[in-house]
Amino acid sequence: MEIVRAKDYGELSRKAANILASQIILKPESVLGLATGSSPIGLYERLVEMYRNGDLDFSKIKTANLDEYVGLDPENDQSYKYFMNINLFSKVNIDLNNVNIPDGTNKDAETECDRYETAIESLGGIDLQLLGIGNNGHIGFNEPADHFPARTHIVDLTESTIEANKRFFADVSLVPRQAYTMGIGTIMKAKKIVMVANGEKKAPIIKEAFLGKITPQVPASILQLHPDFTLVADEAALSMIQ
Ligand code: F6R
Repeated sequence: MEIVRAKDYGELSRKAANILASQIILKPESVLGLATGSSPIGLYERLVEMYRNGDLDFSKIKTANLDEYVGLDPENDQSYKYFMNINLFSKVNIDLNNVNIPDGTNKDAETECDRYETAIESLGGIDLQLLGIGNNGHIGFNEPADHFPARTHIVDLTESTIEANKRFFADVSLVPRQAYTMGIGTIMKAKKIVMVANGEKKAPIIKEAFLGKITPQVPASILQLHPDFTLVADEAALSMIQ
């Protein structure tokens, strides 16, 4: 495991964007596994900037996102598809036919999860998977559990996640109750994994996940076993492991 230190969120975003940019430059037809959430927003901004400066070409890039809410239309501004369009896809020359996100409108979980796992396999697997980390150690929507789920699957959101998400919706009844997520096995099969983490709120879980024991109760701890895992974090997030 490599740790790339940054003094603040701006530097973290630049450093992480440089890692993704070198992947794109060295292998223009790369398969990128992408994440939503607040952590990668700055990194996506930097990638868009590099594209606008003529330094990056996304025309052959393929992507597969980690997760999506079940039941949300892609036009819903809380869907992860919408997030990706706003923050990256609509701003670079990516071919939208090369973009993969679990289809939250497909209510048939078994079919959708099999379709998604097969789609990733037929891309030849993921070259570089980008991750954030939840305060409880979740990656994707793989919450603390008694085992590491292998494949793409459906999860019931915890009450605390529903509670945390309700501020984005007009009414709590509109908050999705379920999500599709890549499994831990899907994530671990990526050739390279890059995690971005910032802020002091992430410091305790960064310590537990990467200095503690490997356990499905802290899903991110499995990354200790990945042969090419890089954590890009700011000083605040690293403050408990200096
Ligand atoms: C997002 C995802 C989540 C987030 C995590 C951290 O696609 O899968 O696991 O990476 O919840 O979220 P932020 O970055 O908002 O702290």
